[in-house]
Amino acid sequence: MPVVPTKEILDRAFGERYGVAAINVVNDLTMEAVLAAAEELKAPVIIQTSVKHVKMTGLDAMFAMWQAYTKDVTVPVALHLDHCPERDVISACLAKGWSSVLFDASKLSVEENKRQCIEVVAEARRYGAHVEGEIEGFKRTEEMTGDEAKQVQTLEVAVDFIKATGVDVFAPAIGNAHGMYKTTPTLDSQRVTDIVAATGIPVALHGGTGMTPEQFSDLISRGCAKVNISTALKIAFMKSGYDFMTEHPGDYDPPKIFTAQRAAVMEMAKHHMRLFGSEGKAWT
Ligand code: 13P
Repeated sequence: MPVVPTKEILDRAFGERYGVAAINVVNDLTMEAVLAAAEELKAPVIIQTSVKHVKMTGLDAMFAMWQAYTKDVTVPVALHLDHCPERDVISACLAKGWSSVLFDASKLSVEENKRQCIEVVAEARRYGAHVEGEIEGFKRTEEMTGDEAKQVQTLEVAVDFIKATGVDVFAPAIGNAHGMYKTTPTLDSQRVTDIVAATGIPVALHGGTGMTPEQFSDLISRGCAKVNISTALKIAFMKSGYDFMTEHPGDYDPPKIFTAQRAAVMEMAKHHMRLFGSEGKAWT
């Protein structure tokens, strides 16, 4: 195997109703640690890259890293570009070999989003790649007002967008947000059921960090085959470094800190893979 199309990973998970962890990595160490966690649990995984980190690392360097770290991986893995409004970055990642992209035109009108998303899907297909779509932007948790689940497009608009664009996976707003929730969010899980029933495609669950195990299993059973986790990785990575320095004052040997960080990121990733039911689901 080991790099397989995103659609293959998601369609299997969708069919069997388990969730695939789609984890945002921030550098080489975190990419390798998430892949090692997937390998250890025999779980398929999606590695996500933000536009910010692609630009910071450099597209070529990030892709070289991906190729090097997946060379000997035996579980199904895919590389995804998360929330990208920039068409040139989408084109560059697709041409380089990313497995899939989330075209984030949620700031545009649904009509314009749809028009451009059709182009992105056509472009992705030329590379055998896949596309996630969205029509509502996700807030940060600190901006939440409590009525997020109501600030959405109608089911009819969402279904029309999915059918017209041919996206492979759709990311609806259901009261979720990016960051650390202050309290357990109130989620409109029925919206997931309605979208899945009307379109038959898997749903991407955003803002995974801080949702309860019950919320995950309910949403995954309704068709959330892709479960996005970003903040939990940032916390595991940064806190383990901070804790190491606190426990070992004056020890500035980077490999020791990196070892602690790798272990923490692996634990965080394994925790979510187990929670989402993807442990042992690798088919290679
Ligand atoms: P969290 O940062 O809340 O885990 O959200 C991740 C996400 O949805 C990335 O697109």
